[in-house]
Amino acid sequence: MADTQAIKDRLDIVALIQEYVPLKKAGANWKANCPFHHEKSPSFMVQAEKQIWHCFGCGQGGDIFSFIQAIEGLEFIDALKLLGKRAGVPVDTYVNTSQESERSRLEEVVAAAANFFHHFLLEIPAAEAARAYLKKRGLNSESISEWQIGFAPDQWDLLTKYLLKKNFSLEILVKSGLTIKRDNADAQTGRGFYDRWRGRIMFPLFDAHGTIVGFTGRILVETPDTGGKYVNSPQSSLYDKSRLLYGLNLAKNEIKKQDLAVLVEGQMDVIACHQHGFKNVVAASGTALTPEQVRLLKRYTSTIAMAFDADAAGENAGRRGIDIALSGGLHIKVIEIPEGSGKDADEVLNKNPEIWQSSVNQASDVMAWYLSRIIKKFNLADPRQKQSAAEVLLTQVSQIPLSVERDDWLKKIAAALNIEAPALREELKRQAHQGKHAGGASKATGGSLASSPATPTLNAEDLAHANLQGDFWSLIIKFPNLYQFFVVSLKDELFVGSPYLGLYENCKNLYNTLGRLDLSALRQFFATENQENFIDILTLRPYKNFDELNPNVAQKELEQILARLTAYYQKTRRSALQQEITLAESQGEHERVKILLQEIQLL
Ligand code: UTP
Ligand code: MN
Repeated sequence: MADTQAIKDRLDIVALIQEYVPLKKAGANWKANCPFHHEKSPSFMVQAEKQIWHCFGCGQGGDIFSFIQAIEGLEFIDALKLLGKRAGVPVDTYVNTSQESERSRLEEVVAAAANFFHHFLLEIPAAEAARAYLKKRGLNSESISEWQIGFAPDQWDLLTKYLLKKNFSLEILVKSGLTIKRDNADAQTGRGFYDRWRGRIMFPLFDAHGTIVGFTGRILVETPDTGGKYVNSPQSSLYDKSRLLYGLNLAKNEIKKQDLAVLVEGQMDVIACHQHGFKNVVAASGTALTPEQVRLLKRYTSTIAMAFDADAAGENAGRRGIDIALSGGLHIKVIEIPEGSGKDADEVLNKNPEIWQSSVNQASDVMAWYLSRIIKKFNLADPRQKQSAAEVLLTQVSQIPLSVERDDWLKKIAAALNIEAPALREELKRQAHQGKHAGGASKATGGSLASSPATPTLNAEDLAHANLQGDFWSLIIKFPNLYQFFVVSLKDELFVGSPYLGLYENCKNLYNTLGRLDLSALRQFFATENQENFIDILTLRPYKNFDELNPNVAQKELEQILARLTAYYQKTRRSALQQEITLAESQGEHERVKILLQEIQLL
């Protein structure tokens, strides 16, 4: 597509990437820690002149489009639109409507529904109770309009009918989650299709750019058969709950300015905070913080302050979030609401905004918070309990990516437990050693603490695994047509940390754009990266009696290799989870153990 050049010409790749990653000048180039994999020293480079980026750590790279695709999780066509808009280059002229992505159609229908809900809330007599409820909860009309809050009428299919009249198809209504299709539904008559949300206060969910991607609806009047208190949009190509932070569209500037994001639990908390002038507040909305959300936050801040609901469930969700945020390299503070001041931000603010303000100001560093809790929980006079306390704290310390900060905490813990710091350092090393041999996936927990990360030593099993990955990709390069059979079963996690991750991502992008894997396009891509021999090496890589492999045999081979790669991933993931379970058990965190066990079962 030649017109992409027009967009490239008008956008500065450095300024664009700068918005997501803090680039620093390095000679003629710019560099930073890679946003696509975890690293401690920068191997992510941007070349302004050639308008390309590349990470020498994980092998990913490309132009502005592939960057936006990767960091925003978009299809090529949507990255094109986003950047076209930004460059002032109309893209509609060469994106014809039959090509219009499912994502844009979903965007349109969701926006129309948000509009419908909002006007229903403001103007229709049947929404009187909803208006009264929001008023009782302290929301003013500016907030209602700023967050485009609405009301879903308590009727069977009013919204569905309204949207059909506006020429949206039943198919897209169902895909967006606005309409639910019963088993016996009849698309001809429209019978058996009904509205997902009825009689609920509707909160549109915005992405970081302010585009509505879904909803969460809070029940207004609770009855025995109303379902959950909040009902969210189902996952779709538009809405991915693991990537969404409620409020980020309105909070991002203030988060950047203060270099601090405050993380609360729910929509009402976010809105109450913003209404009271605390504008750097977002919520993960009912899930523990995910790695994607952490990456999103890291574009704007180095520090987050987390407020958990003052109950066990709130604290468990928070704890999981802490581990994920720590391994993602964020500094973490914990906001503690004084007893009796309310259970969440919304309650505290409605009672006394000053208490919220001072709780945020006094938020303690996550290690200090752990330390004080552990000291309360364990009897340090008992040597065995003291040992357990040290182990739990060290696991936590090991997740701090910065070595100076890590050592600082080591000293504080040593003082608090009355142990010599060197002894504690030894213990930390021992844990690190154990972590490494428990499997590759322990990187997310114990693994990151090794003080010399330069050359990780591979054991025989890891080596065999790396070879297997090479076999896989050399077969794919040899038989690119076979790629299509593996599109659905290939997952990022199978290649994270491997030199083939970049290749995989590029194959995926090419396939999504062209509908097939085109080897010459792939070769060209690696040529612009000055890695042209990467593909050649794979082509020449010996694989059994490679020459005699025909596509049928190759496909079977690929299936077997993929099964083994998947099994390896599951095994390492399982042992990492088991470690986490042992830790959670030692802390008596039954809820968390339950969640972890569920994940193991899913594996
Ligand atoms: P809470 O139960 O703490 O609700 O759930 P809340 O935010 O305080 O809501 P109000 O004040 O009663 O209106 C916290 C968050 O968890 C998600 C929602 O995002 C909610 O804001 N949640 C909760 C769900 O997704 N589903 C539920 O059934 C409940
Ligand atoms: Mn609440």
